[in-house]
Amino acid sequence: MITNTEIENRGNQYPNHITDFKQEKDKLFFTTQNGVVLQITILRNSTIRFRYATEYAFEPDFSYAISENVSLGYDKLSVEEEVSKYIVSTTKVKIHIDKSNLNVRILDVEDVVLSEDELGFHWEENYDYGGNIVKMSKVCHTGESYYGMGDKASHTNLKGKRVNNWVTDSYAYGKDQEPLYKAIPFYVGLKENQAYGIFFDNSFSTYFDFANEKRNVTSFWADGGEMNYYFFYGPKMGKVVEAYTDLTGVPELPPLWALGFHQSKWSYYPEKKVKDIASGFRKRKIPCDAIYLDIDYMEGFRCFTWDKQHFPDPKKMIDELEEDGFKTITMIDPGIKIDRDYWVYQEAMENGYFCRRADGPHFKGKVWPGDCKFPDFTDPKVRAWWGDLYKEMIADLGVHGVWNDMNEPAIMEVPTKTANLDVRHDYDGHPCSHRKAHNVYGMQMVRATYNGVKKFMFPKRPFVLTRAAYSGTQRYCATWTGDNVATWEHLWIANVQMQRMCMSGYSFVGSDIGGFAEQPNGELFARWIQLAIFHPFCRVHSSGDHGDQEPWSFGDEITDIFRKFVELRYQLLPYLYTMFYKYIKEGLPMLQSLVFYDQDDTQTHFRTDEFLFGEQILVCPVQEPNAQGRRMYFPKGKWYNYWTEEVVEGGKEKWVSAEIHLIPMFIKAGAIIPKYPVQQYVGEKELTELQLDVYYTEGIENSIVYEDQQDGYDYKKGRYSLRKFRLRGKENELIIQQFKDGNFITPYDKFKLTFHGLPFTIGTVEVDNEKVNLKDIKLNGNNSIEVGKDFTELHIVGK
Ligand code: GLC
Repeated sequence: MITNTEIENRGNQYPNHITDFKQEKDKLFFTTQNGVVLQITILRNSTIRFRYATEYAFEPDFSYAISENVSLGYDKLSVEEEVSKYIVSTTKVKIHIDKSNLNVRILDVEDVVLSEDELGFHWEENYDYGGNIVKMSKVCHTGESYYGMGDKASHTNLKGKRVNNWVTDSYAYGKDQEPLYKAIPFYVGLKENQAYGIFFDNSFSTYFDFANEKRNVTSFWADGGEMNYYFFYGPKMGKVVEAYTDLTGVPELPPLWALGFHQSKWSYYPEKKVKDIASGFRKRKIPCDAIYLDIDYMEGFRCFTWDKQHFPDPKKMIDELEEDGFKTITMIDPGIKIDRDYWVYQEAMENGYFCRRADGPHFKGKVWPGDCKFPDFTDPKVRAWWGDLYKEMIADLGVHGVWNDMNEPAIMEVPTKTANLDVRHDYDGHPCSHRKAHNVYGMQMVRATYNGVKKFMFPKRPFVLTRAAYSGTQRYCATWTGDNVATWEHLWIANVQMQRMCMSGYSFVGSDIGGFAEQPNGELFARWIQLAIFHPFCRVHSSGDHGDQEPWSFGDEITDIFRKFVELRYQLLPYLYTMFYKYIKEGLPMLQSLVFYDQDDTQTHFRTDEFLFGEQILVCPVQEPNAQGRRMYFPKGKWYNYWTEEVVEGGKEKWVSAEIHLIPMFIKAGAIIPKYPVQQYVGEKELTELQLDVYYTEGIENSIVYEDQQDGYDYKKGRYSLRKFRLRGKENELIIQQFKDGNFITPYDKFKLTFHGLPFTIGTVEVDNEKVNLKDIKLNGNNSIEVGKDFTELHIVGK
């Protein structure tokens, strides 16, 4: 029979009344009579950190998620004491702390509640492992919605769902399956059109319940560690995501080729096969920038080795591929084969780099090479060693990028699919078990990889790809959504996953186009590439045992569709690169769900399919077989159908026709979309002009174009070109102003402007207040003109 003491010990425990308050600059400490301390830190006017300790003592403050470059500073911090509560105020929010139970309520300056504790902080002592299971419950208000949370394969709006963050190898996962490959414990709440965010920075297994168990409660908890969360106030979603992204960091600009099209397969070998695939692209004139070598290039799956039978001279192959415009990307997994004759194994053994079990022996697990040991990437010494292992591959052989896989870590033949929970980790000098280090293991592996690849690629930029991720991993690498399936449902999943990842601060993301497991038919493959050219990372990858998945594997019609869309991606590269620039500069997600685009329109709160590619292109994929088109919702504003130029007024649903060769795609009226010529790979052609597609609107719209050398670091010294265009349309006039920044000289001298939807016939054109001869600017019908790239004002008047 369970005794009263056991119930007391095992049940939830709660803070009681506050007995002490103390302030140390930006930190406030509220202590309760039963030993709970709430530490509130003001980071910015709208970014507040809440941290709770029991038994008066905090754990050492350390996190892998937080960026070194986080912006700090606020304008006001005041604390008032009332009879029943404390009130902490900044210029943007007020925080009420109930003296009787430590409950927190966060309000805007007009006293509108943004977020309030239900039970608030509570905990359960963990008898098996020590420490606490830490819990937080908040009120879910009527009409409140929830977004974000990384790679969840669920409806974009998470209301009614429960999710778990425990990075897991999830081969052929399904809709709503939990957990998946990433742990990004960050959500955006939307209450009465005001947005806020919560980032629960705890690397243990975390759970979030969005009004699933109880209709009016949203809660989150972790198997250990501290209740430690950041609150971000919007009121716009953009501000929330920007603040989270600032806190957890952004990557550097990738080399432009990394935004091109990539082709992969498990596995292309031997060398001849790789070359045949590469020349298959050139022969058929399908642009492609990178080709991948999956595990079979290695000698018996030993990382940092080459199978010399299949790849007798890797350097020669890589050089030849490069001459043809292909970058070579190789896979590296974390498991090191137990083999006393293998140098990587020997080095790790000699230096004590492998993870150990609690009682001393090394942790062993089966992966592709059989029994393996696993470096402890949470140890800085191990990371430095690991980074240096890339020297031969990158500096000597010329590999251009690295793909880290199975880094959850994935372990075969065990039900948990991963390392034992008692495995020990250094955790950068905070020794702990795998329970705490699991979710960051893959992140620390790619961090080490990134640092190594970056060092040996210098002065060029590195490219690294990961499967596992925790918040902050976006600082180091791109990611893909793991082993998906060639089904229509997975096309839907890919669409929501990419939007969700972008909303979660991680924009450089893509899916295995066409599906990893099983084989798509031509129609599904075509629909997938139509969507995927709008995903920041664009790669076809598939498992070896289900037939071919090259763009030409499904007959001529599909090959032509594939080519057409990849060509469109290459044309849009300057637009996409500018999106990337805005992402790292302002934390703006590269893809925007409709709710992000216009949270005030409640129609958008439950939409899953439509999204903005950047800020000015609206896309809605066709996700069903045999479709001739689909219904979609248009957010506010005017939208040009990219294919027909028909203008649609937003704020309504509409049927859009899109047979197999089309995807519904719309350009915001007023936008100026930059385009490059179609190239077979980035850098193939010398750019002689920049095409600007100008979509007339009555009114004002701003557009920007960011460019630089497309690789290297000179852009950090000011060698970039940022052009801001301000379009102003009137009934019979169009004025485009250009504002320039940066001192990179673009290789082209002129713009070719192509007009869409001009309501008048061009009569006169003035460039910087001087009338020009229409022949000199090559006026072509009413469609296009050519002007020097340095104008500050272009004034076009109708006849
Ligand atoms: C994992 C990866 C997949 C890769 C395979 C073999 O399943 O997710 O992309 O092809 O391992 O390396």
